[in-house]
Amino acid sequence: MAEWTAKTIELWTEENQYTFTARTTESGVFVGRLVVRPVEGSNAYRIGFWIHPTLWNKGYATELARCALSFAFGELKAETVAVAHAVWNKASARVIEKLGFESCREIAQGFMKRGQWVPELEYKMTRAEWRRDET
Ligand SMILES: CC(C)(COP(=O)(O)OP(=O)(O)OC[C@H]1O[C@@H](n2cnc3c(N)ncnc32)[C@H](O)[C@@H]1OP(=O)(O)O)[C@@H](O)C(=O)NCCC(=O)NCCS
Repeated sequence: MAEWTAKTIELWTEENQYTFTARTTESGVFVGRLVVRPVEGSNAYRIGFWIHPTLWNKGYATELARCALSFAFGELKAETVAVAHAVWNKASARVIEKLGFESCREIAQGFMKRGQWVPELEYKMTRAEWRRDET
């Protein structure tokens, strides 16, 4: 855990990945994690979110991902934010839809799981699209 924390702080300091831990305001219970990562050679970022399985379907991912968009567009001045999910991940697809992501493409070799490529759907939102949804 100490090693993970040290690596997380190092990545943040180098501006290579921003990791947030979410807790409930009332009791401080661990809810999940959020990452915002720069896409090399561009003014774009990619976000990812994970919610503890005992807390699924309570709106936490949607709330967290909205914070990720505010951080990327507001603080980091991103021009584009991307997010992706495994094609079978319907809950994640719904969260992304609720956030207002529209354009989408399939990536056949999304990520490796147990030696097999998992296809992903990747979505992008521009700063202008985010502003339109914010107002
Ligand atoms: C995907 C994940 C982040 C969703 O978190 P969550 O806190 O449950 O999400 P929310 O409660 O904000 O929204 C979930 C939505 O998906 C819907 N949903 C859940 N399971 C679904 C399914 N099998 N099919 C269709 N919709 C589904 C819910 O009804 C809800 O939509 P609604 O608000 O319109 O009712 C969570 O399941 C998770 O951490 N999974 C593992 C990691 C992961 O897949 N991360 C995403 C990659 S970036």
